[in-house]
Amino acid sequence: MATRATPQVLEPLTKRKAWKALQTHYDKVRGLHLRKLFVDDPKRGERMTAEAAGLFLDYSKNRITDETLKLLIDLAEESGLQPRIDAMFRGDKINTTEKRAVLHVALRAPKEASILVDGEDVVRQVHKVLDKMAHFSNRVRSGEWKGHTGKRIRNVVNIGIGGSDLGPVMAYEALKHYSERAMTFRFVSNVDSTDFVEAVQGLDPSETLFIVSSKTFTTLETMTNAHTARDWSLQGLGGDEKSVAKHFVAVSTNAAEVAKFGIDTANMFEFWDWVGGRYSMDSAIGLSTMIAIGPDNFRAMLNGFHQMDEHFRTAPFERNLPVLMGLLAIWNNDFFGSETVAVLPYEQYLKRFPAYLQQLTMESNGKHVTLDGAEVTYATSPIYWGEPGTNGQHSFYQLIHQGTRIIPCDFIAFSNALNPLGRHHDMLLANVFAQTEALAFGKTPEEVKAEGTPDWLVPHRVFEGNRPSNTILAERLTPEILGKLVALYEHIVFTQGTIWQINSFDQWGVELGKVLAQRIIPELESQAEPALRHDSSTNNLISRYRKLKEKSQ
Ligand code: F6P
Repeated sequence: MATRATPQVLEPLTKRKAWKALQTHYDKVRGLHLRKLFVDDPKRGERMTAEAAGLFLDYSKNRITDETLKLLIDLAEESGLQPRIDAMFRGDKINTTEKRAVLHVALRAPKEASILVDGEDVVRQVHKVLDKMAHFSNRVRSGEWKGHTGKRIRNVVNIGIGGSDLGPVMAYEALKHYSERAMTFRFVSNVDSTDFVEAVQGLDPSETLFIVSSKTFTTLETMTNAHTARDWSLQGLGGDEKSVAKHFVAVSTNAAEVAKFGIDTANMFEFWDWVGGRYSMDSAIGLSTMIAIGPDNFRAMLNGFHQMDEHFRTAPFERNLPVLMGLLAIWNNDFFGSETVAVLPYEQYLKRFPAYLQQLTMESNGKHVTLDGAEVTYATSPIYWGEPGTNGQHSFYQLIHQGTRIIPCDFIAFSNALNPLGRHHDMLLANVFAQTEALAFGKTPEEVKAEGTPDWLVPHRVFEGNRPSNTILAERLTPEILGKLVALYEHIVFTQGTIWQINSFDQWGVELGKVLAQRIIPELESQAEPALRHDSSTNNLISRYRKLKEKSQ
């Protein structure tokens, strides 16, 4: 267990000594070019790397010096990062606005570990649910679990949204290589009816299992889709209510609502309020993942998560992957003013990874007040986005290379393809390395001219370079490596949130829209003309919608 002391009183971020030192330092180094940094230190590309749990990180192509790193680490220490890590792992209620512990790390703790929340050993509870999930998954996969008419289940449809969808979708796509190909897995999240209709297209209700995944079991989109699914299923199965027990299971923290919906709580897979929605893909929310890849692969993924947790908890900051990446993102965000981060996996199976990270990063750290409720005076979460390479190269990379904004990039690549074909993988990896090289070093006007480019065209063909990137390399995308990657980003978010002194674990910002939508729904559905009391724009939009709807009925 690490032993760094808690700073007595935490100064506001911009008053901290290390922050001020970083500001002075930034003025000195902001003009430095990566070309010069690499020429001055020929070993930089080997030195500014770190490796843990099978992930290799090259952060040398960031606009930093050794002094920058030292100051960033000072900042982490001065911000009480280690004590806060320890507090999370201990189960302290660090989600203060919701008065909850933050214990996604307990979801992957080994059986023999013990973490107490309100006197209860949560690790024991976690393993009980994992065993129940494994038993159920095995029964579905083997065909032992039968549908209402006696047929085996061939289709699994997960209904959920946000953390109850993005993790399962991402993990299913990421680990498709390991999945049971004789089964079909689909996901419904949007309240847009098209999502449901397309998801069940071609499916036989007698072979279809719905997993209703919702932490609260009250989310509008999920409950609407769940009721539609119930109707679809009942209609296809002759209307026998008893069929629900064979075709619906629930993943939730809310047993009362699950029972109210008509799902036997014996078919409910539990999780707890100390698991945030966006931190839940390795809880029972991962039931569809487990059915797809099998319990052994799921446990291997948990093991990957745990290895990264242990690395984060114990490694010195200067070799700690999530800490380094969290700090570098702060350097780019708060000093260079970069507003976004592009996550660029060069692995087709990771196509939904950037979308998954959007909720993880932005719902966690898109906050405007500190833990004390004071308005922040610095930028918090950057916007995360991305697409798999090489597709992005033929789309938005133009802006990353030559646009007016600095977009720090995280490149993710693997030395082995899961589906090797001829020269494909070398070509793929050549592109990763070429992109990071081009971004960092660019092409000077002299170099462009030397190629015989006419003078008038030179400015268009110049690449300024000096564009920061990280490269993460691993051997191959396995369930274990996926766990490590997700945990890496979870802890990057934690590191950033700690420095910014914000609560990375609540999401009050999603509430207002939900409440207003509930108010508007009856105004759209009522037969009688409603008395609208919104602003003139919203009133007008509602009236127009009602008129257009009427016209087409
Ligand atoms: O809209 C925000 C949110 O609360 C997310 O944090 C959460 O992942 C999602 O909704 C779904 O919530 P639930 O699992 O309770 O249906």
